[in-house]
Amino acid sequence: MPQREVSNQIINVDSAKLPCHVAIIMDGNGRWAQARGMSRTHGHRRGAEIVRPIVTECAELNLDALTLYSFSTENWTREQTEVNFLMELYVEYLLAERQTMLDNNVQFRQLGRREGLPNSVLDELDRTVELTSKNTGMTLSLALNYGSRAEIVDAVRDIAQQVQQGDIKAADIDEALIASHLYTAGLPDPDLLIRTAGEMRISNYLLWQISYAELYIADCCWPEFDLAELYKAFDAYTNRQRKFGSVPTT
Ligand code: IPE
Ligand code: IPE
Ligand code: MG
Repeated sequence: MPQREVSNQIINVDSAKLPCHVAIIMDGNGRWAQARGMSRTHGHRRGAEIVRPIVTECAELNLDALTLYSFSTENWTREQTEVNFLMELYVEYLLAERQTMLDNNVQFRQLGRREGLPNSVLDELDRTVELTSKNTGMTLSLALNYGSRAEIVDAVRDIAQQVQQGDIKAADIDEALIASHLYTAGLPDPDLLIRTAGEMRISNYLLWQISYAELYIADCCWPEFDLAELYKAFDAYTNRQRKFGSVPTT
């Protein structure tokens, strides 16, 4: 049982009880900044900085996957200055965090549409995927220009084309085939979905994949989400009884 030190306290972690795949909706950057009289962009910068300790901890715990929602297909409707700032921030983040990914044996991938993203972001995404492709540890996915409905549309188009070309029959379409056409192909479904900033909604995130995920809402805003908060979420998860539609025998 590994021991971790968090806020000067020793935590005994039962690895077998940890979620294999954690998905996070990193929300509340704007509110965090505005509550402190700062601009929303300041909140985004702080939000990007606190990703590192979370990624490192999850990698050290040997989770299979960590999936972070960083920009939705709906976030393009924000003010152009905020969108531009965020796009520059993703470039900076990828440049700065590559070494951390390499040091932690993390494989990187993007979930989302490429169309619409500036070339500067695409270049850094591609470079990070390439540089980390031989790593064998945790998969870190950045949901960037991600929308779950767009993902399902893309999957349905792919599958329809295969049927049209006669590669598969309509009757061959099953859940596994659909899952293999989603951006998350090859990843296990999330076991735990964390959303920060108290909001009780999914906001077009991983609709197919979270069918049986345990939901955990943290009241703190993303820039305040530290390892102590992460372990509170793990603790809540450990105490849930997952039933997957069955009636447990014990
Ligand atoms: C999450 O924080 C980051 C992104 C969606 C890019 P928000 O920017 O949504 O912050 P709030 O919800 O307005 O406080
Ligand atoms: C969800 O947060 C998207 C990300 C965290 C990237 P939003 O702030 O965009 O969601 P809503 O608008 O509150 O539903
Ligand atoms: Mg928000």
